[in-house]
Amino acid sequence: MKILVVGSGGREHAVVWKLRQSHPDLDIWCTPGNHGISRHAYCVTGDLSDVEALAAFAERQKFDLTFVGPEAPLVLGVKEAFQARGLRLVGPSSEAAKLEGSKAFAKEFMSRHGIPTAAFEVCESPLRAAEVIDSGRLGLPLVMKADGLAAGKGVVIVTSQREAYAYLESFMVRKTLGDAGDVVVLEQCLTGREFSLLVFTDGEAAVPLPMAQDYKRLLDGDRGPNTGGMGAICTPDLLDETTREYILARIVMPTISNLDKEGRRYRGVLYVGLMLTRTGPMVLEFNARLGDPETQAILPRLSSDLLEILEAVDSGEMRRLEPRWDPRSTACVVLAAGGYPGKYETHTPIGGLDEVEGLENVEVFHAGTTSPNGRDVFTSGGRVLGVTGLDSTLERALDRAYHAVSFIHFDGVQYRRDIGGFSHHGV
Ligand code: AMP
Ligand code: GLY
Repeated sequence: MKILVVGSGGREHAVVWKLRQSHPDLDIWCTPGNHGISRHAYCVTGDLSDVEALAAFAERQKFDLTFVGPEAPLVLGVKEAFQARGLRLVGPSSEAAKLEGSKAFAKEFMSRHGIPTAAFEVCESPLRAAEVIDSGRLGLPLVMKADGLAAGKGVVIVTSQREAYAYLESFMVRKTLGDAGDVVVLEQCLTGREFSLLVFTDGEAAVPLPMAQDYKRLLDGDRGPNTGGMGAICTPDLLDETTREYILARIVMPTISNLDKEGRRYRGVLYVGLMLTRTGPMVLEFNARLGDPETQAILPRLSSDLLEILEAVDSGEMRRLEPRWDPRSTACVVLAAGGYPGKYETHTPIGGLDEVEGLENVEVFHAGTTSPNGRDVFTSGGRVLGVTGLDSTLERALDRAYHAVSFIHFDGVQYRRDIGGFSHHGV
């Protein structure tokens, strides 16, 4: 069998690594991939914004199955492009991926179907947004979200009307996020602990993955700017079973069935970003894909064959699947380039990777790395590596991850010392 994985981050490395673990002989390709991925798969350059070219490539190369990591190709209709050529691709159609592609659509969908989420207003013009801000009815702080895809830069929490006006001007008038800010969603600000619940679904049945927690802020103590994610943990007791069941019954399953009823059958990975508020779990966001870095914490706990799950998503046989999960805990610590999430340097040499190679129950997932000569490794992105430790308790998993991190170095490296709520200032 010949498989294509689309993407180039730590998430895609974890997917390729997992597939390779169960299938030493599988013919795995990745576009565009990175240095870490190239150790398990054949990497080919590619333009992920050209979904027709991707489909044409997949047809020429006769892939039996394609898995898409990032959201942009899904929102652009990569599923339809593959389907038109009779090719199998695991991921939602653009109509279903709209749940991530348009925050206004997602909020209105939740509101139509009674799925718990923060109070909101969709604003199609700056005047309308100004009216909502002035009315004060969503309170302060206030959350402002650009409707479209904005690579993690489209959500701000403002604490005054004046700040709200400044971002409104930036999103809607100066168009700092391009078309993504043509419409904004204003939302009541919720407080509580955040979780990610991901499910594989064929549009009818769903197989939940273990809950994970992502650390979005750059600095220790949840300070500093939002990032794509600076770390993640995945541990069996992250959330009690009653709450998890409630989320599946009241949020996940109604989302899947109502999408189907609205003619947007969802096949792929559905990522639900949740906040546990005093009045119960509420949805902060949907994503149409695996989370990054959640995947680097979740997949090392999967004891079953990932390929079998992907095939079941595509063939509609989710109902008969019962994947097994390792009862141990994982923690993933992300190493980012200096300057990230703003402007950052690339092509900085990375040292210490060989030293961590032999460490037991540690996996180093590459996110932004390159190796022009196949030997020396350099940074090539904002998030550079994700180091995952696996052990019987979360604290021990964290010790493993941070121990490995202590060997790795590159100029300007930034990482959080408090992933998992335990302080690791000594490393
Ligand atoms: P989103 O991309 O919608 O998940 O937003 C990114 C981050 O902004 C979330 O992970 C939360 O930390 C925060 N956020 C989003 N919506 C809200 C909300 N209604 N109240 C408080 N924080 C929020
Ligand atoms: N870690 C958050 C995301 O993948 O969107």
